[in-house]
Amino acid sequence: MANPSLLILPGDGIGPEVMTEVRKVIDWYGTQGFPFDVSEDLVGGAAYDAHGAPLSDETMEKAQQVDAVLLGAVGGPKYDTLDFSVKPERGLLRLRKEMDLFANLRPAQCFDALADFSSLKKDVVAGLDIMIVRELTSGVYFGEPRGIITENNERVGINTQRYTESEIDRVARSAFDLAMKRGKKLCSMEKANVMESGILWRDVVTEVGKDYPEVELTHMYADAGAMQLTRWPKQFDVIVTDNLFGDLLSDLAAMLTGSLGMLPSASLGLPMANGRPKAMYEPVHGSAPDIAGQGKANPIACILSFAMALRYSFDLGTQADQLEAAVEKVLADGLRTADLLGEEGRDPVSTSEMGDAIVAALEDSI
Ligand code: NAD
Ligand code: IPM
Ligand code: MN
Repeated sequence: MANPSLLILPGDGIGPEVMTEVRKVIDWYGTQGFPFDVSEDLVGGAAYDAHGAPLSDETMEKAQQVDAVLLGAVGGPKYDTLDFSVKPERGLLRLRKEMDLFANLRPAQCFDALADFSSLKKDVVAGLDIMIVRELTSGVYFGEPRGIITENNERVGINTQRYTESEIDRVARSAFDLAMKRGKKLCSMEKANVMESGILWRDVVTEVGKDYPEVELTHMYADAGAMQLTRWPKQFDVIVTDNLFGDLLSDLAAMLTGSLGMLPSASLGLPMANGRPKAMYEPVHGSAPDIAGQGKANPIACILSFAMALRYSFDLGTQADQLEAAVEKVLADGLRTADLLGEEGRDPVSTSEMGDAIVAALEDSI
């Protein structure tokens, strides 16, 4: 049987830096009897520099063919003044939309060794393990009409929040399925108090919930949800929410774990002919232009995204556990990239030292 195929899209800024460390982990699994056919291509500003577009049709086609895509990060100040249609972020959004990756799983887990590193009190975050399911292919990110028009001699910026019942239904089912495998609690977040799309969201999620009688379903307005996530995040198990609220709430949740550099994600779509879901794995963080090129980036979010690929695309749950344990081990040993040390941090390890230590911990685990 052919090896599972992986398309790697390092992207911009720290994307290529963290991806170099993921490659070390992928290569290590290759030596352990789990080889992957890896190909690499361009996305974001790097693709724009090469082809004048943030994702070429050829790369899009490759992404549709492989078993899973692994993406670093896109964007950066160099591209901020480009026309909207060719901005690096459009490449990422095209991948999500055309692959129909509607369920974005963003787990926020606080490793014991980092419980002191969050900006919140230790007892608020110690042992935290929540999963945010963000709808990824609809809502205000994609709704029509959109654009900048002129009306009464002034410019008007327009975006439309739009959700169909079936779009809400399918992401809700993904979230309920996850809740069944976890703590059987699901909190749905919207703003049904001010938005019709929120009313529909609450309605459909409630309806889907009838198929999951074992899951305790609650609803919360997303603003109150943000407050509760910082007040007492351990009240949550799985959270399901729309594209924009999910974007905000997952960055917020990242800081509960100590750093945005820790949060992985899986963007999943419908099953392909081989039964595997269409899938792209990407850290939650961006291209971090402020630290790019300095060897300071934390590669853990991207490495844990590969762990999610092992689990969700390749049925290698044991190997995913092994990789997560290796990350936990190096953190317990005291290794910290600069982002985990705060403003006054001393003696951080570099991106590649962190990657090497994780591979060494994998080696020790066998
Ligand atoms: P960002 O996530 O790139 O950075 C926010 C802060 O977190 C910065 O201080 C950065 O140094 C830090 N940080 C992020 N990841 C880190 C890591 N792995 N290790 C250490 N520190 C890390 O967000 P931003 O600054 O708002 O955006 C920069 C660019 O990235 C923009 O062009 C934006 O559109 C893009 N972006 C891309 C993605 C993606 O590709 N998935 C996600 C978010 C932002
Ligand atoms: C993310 C990012 C993206 C988003 C951008 C870069 C398009 O912030 O993945 O969280 O807004 O979805
Ligand atoms: Mn974001």
